[in-house]
Amino acid sequence: METNTQSPYRIVVLIGGNGSNLQALIDKTQRGSSYEIAGVISHRPDAYGLVRAQIANLPSVVVDHQQFASRQAFETALIAAISHFNPHLIVLAGFMRILSAHFVQSFAQPILNIHPALLPNYKGLNTHQRVLEAGDEIHGVSVHLVNEELDSGPLIARVTVPVLPTDDVTCLRERVLVAEHWLYPQIVEWFAENRLKYAENLVTLDDKQIGPQGLLLSLPSAQGIVS
Ligand code: GRF
Repeated sequence: METNTQSPYRIVVLIGGNGSNLQALIDKTQRGSSYEIAGVISHRPDAYGLVRAQIANLPSVVVDHQQFASRQAFETALIAAISHFNPHLIVLAGFMRILSAHFVQSFAQPILNIHPALLPNYKGLNTHQRVLEAGDEIHGVSVHLVNEELDSGPLIARVTVPVLPTDDVTCLRERVLVAEHWLYPQIVEWFAENRLKYAENLVTLDDKQIGPQGLLLSLPSAQGIVS
């Protein structure tokens, strides 16, 4: 396996809520990973993810968006907090603030996001509710690079999740989260191993270009999703 020349490969994780994806990223480091979590940043002081960071002995910082008079001031503080950890990769995991073009362009490092829907469908909020209302039978999760437009950066990978006739928002969300917790650490690991690369708007895995749909991956059945 190819190792990244920038060793150890440092990620910073940006959260705003429960932090279950952060937990999945932490769990992988404890099982053995090519990346380390240099720090966790929350835009909310009451995010449960901060407790998870503390339990895992990870440095964490709150950049409370409500304490800033403008988005520009908030983002200036956020950029400083991220830069302090000197990461190779910036990982958004439930970070619920829209980021400006200035923010995105401030970093040479890739910025990743996980979105609970099969992009480009269902950008934005309340994806599970909207999928149920539409009567879709297939839902899923996407990991993509962040650009200036909401939920629109280059797709890296998607995993489909079945919608069952008995589903409500809660159980559909839980089933999608199982896929998220499998997918996100895997994608970060590929970056850390230098297998996944992003340069000049192209995403490659093992030097093969990933198409505009991203990789379509399947959750191992042991992860508990049944159709
Ligand atoms: C996840 O559904 C993720 O896809 C979305 O926000 C949610 C965060 O959940 N971006 P958690 O805080 O990681 O539990």
